[in-house]
Amino acid sequence: MTPTDLVFQSYGRCCRNDEFFVDFYDFFMSSSDAIRNRFVDTDMSAQRHLLRNGVMQIILVARGMSDRKLKDLGQSHNRHNYNIQPEWYGLWEEALLKTVRVHDPEYTPELREAWREVLKPGIDLIRGAY
Ligand code: HEM
Repeated sequence: MTPTDLVFQSYGRCCRNDEFFVDFYDFFMSSSDAIRNRFVDTDMSAQRHLLRNGVMQIILVARGMSDRKLKDLGQSHNRHNYNIQPEWYGLWEEALLKTVRVHDPEYTPELREAWREVLKPGIDLIRGAY
């Protein structure tokens, strides 16, 4: 199986439980006060749904789909809009990998590497639009 197949299936297992996104934001917001502050006025229930779709977009782009929607995310997160600091994306990735480890019963260190490989182009695109 290719890394994108492994990750696609892993994400399917993770998404069976809505707690995946609750835990992701708990881990992500615990990683820094600056991050937590960015979400003080956010409707987190809506945000969890948006993220569910955003991660799927990253996986689909790694599988060859158009990156138009990721470019829109790059724009909303850039210095003129949410002003998301480039160094925060490492915390985002760590929080996501930790949540996969907790939620995917088939997690292995190799699967973690597949996730890192698949996430990289999408994260680079969004962060690179800063
Ligand atoms: C909003 C995805 C990284 C903070 C959003 C939305 C999506 C999304 C889908 C909603 C659509 C939009 O408003 O454009 C992602 C993905 C990321 C990422 C896929 C990683 C590649 C980050 C990071 C931060 C962040 C590192 C740092 C704090 C926010 C904020 C909002 C947002 C503050 C708006 C929340 C609100 O409406 O109140 N993100 N994001 N995101 N994201 Fe991200």
